[in-house]
Amino acid sequence: EKGTYDYFMMKEIDEQPFVMRKIIQQYQDESNNIKVEQVVRDEMAKADRIYIIAAGTSYNAGLVGKQIIENVAGIPVEVHIASEFSYNMPLLSEKPLFIFISQSGETADSRSVLVKTQAMGHPSITVTNVPGSTLSREADYTLPLYAGPEIAVASTKAYTAQIAVLTILAVDTAKAKGKTLTFDPLQELAIVANAMETLTDKKDVFEQMALDLFKDTRNAFYIGRGVDYYVVQEASLKLKEISYIQAEGFAGGELKHGTIALIEEGTPVIAIATQENVNLSIRGNVQEVAARGANTCTVSMEGLEKDEDRVVLPHVHPLLTPLVSVVPMQLLAYYAAVQRGCDVDKPRNLAKSVTVE
Ligand code: F6R
Repeated sequence: EKGTYDYFMMKEIDEQPFVMRKIIQQYQDESNNIKVEQVVRDEMAKADRIYIIAAGTSYNAGLVGKQIIENVAGIPVEVHIASEFSYNMPLLSEKPLFIFISQSGETADSRSVLVKTQAMGHPSITVTNVPGSTLSREADYTLPLYAGPEIAVASTKAYTAQIAVLTILAVDTAKAKGKTLTFDPLQELAIVANAMETLTDKKDVFEQMALDLFKDTRNAFYIGRGVDYYVVQEASLKLKEISYIQAEGFAGGELKHGTIALIEEGTPVIAIATQENVNLSIRGNVQEVAARGANTCTVSMEGLEKDEDRVVLPHVHPLLTPLVSVVPMQLLAYYAAVQRGCDVDKPRNLAKSVTVE
């Protein structure tokens, strides 16, 4: 039920801190250690390469998952769009492991890949919000998201839940492989939950910001580098699907290789800057577009902030910033859609799960 909310999407955005805490609780044993089935652990430890297969927002979560798994567990990861992989399969490694990410567990494009890779004899894990769904039943193992039903067509809490579960899986694998870890994921996810709350507590800030950025615009650009580049792809998808503003997420460094031609007086450019190693260069990209008249908005993180930043996120572990930086992006998209009179929960032309290829 929506309760006091106008739309399920806002309810689901607000639920994210609780979902983080639920995931922490579900994936920990009595001695506060990570709890993942031994068989899943064994498959992860055996794999020489992981192939993440997904569509839409789940694909965007997979991109972040790749960064985390490679960094923490040291296994190479490829992320593929299901509909592309299915008919244009790349050369596979010797011991591939397939991870299907799907909120609904019913996406036909992903299932088509699962059917093919299973016929080839490769192991599979489904990360899904719906245990008992097709992808969950047909894959070898399931990692549930515990996000509760997601009703709004635009996915929000499933994205952050997917990243959280992949983080736990990555850390569990690292431990199984005897790696020394520099962080405790359950503790870091608890910090993330609190950081999310400080943002959802400040909705009026984002409502005003959406008005300033998107009121009279036909298009919008998002830029980021490294893991922030992955988040801006999700940010632009959210804006497109519910507000119908044409939006794209770009790698900050690619702007000058063409896209900058689209910047005009007042064009909104939202930058995410949460990574120390690219902080200077992404800020350089913001200046480049500002000099051409863009209406810029930088979202940074405590410790890396500058006076001109419009949003400063609470500090979280550098690998986990997408869980926090995506929240203002979801809120901006939500308010842009509301301000344009769009039906937030049921955007035109879209269905919650896409069960045809
Ligand atoms: C975007 C959105 C879609 C889904 C995509 C995959 O907000 O909801 O892009 O993410 O259709 O769906 P699942 O995750 O159910 O496989």
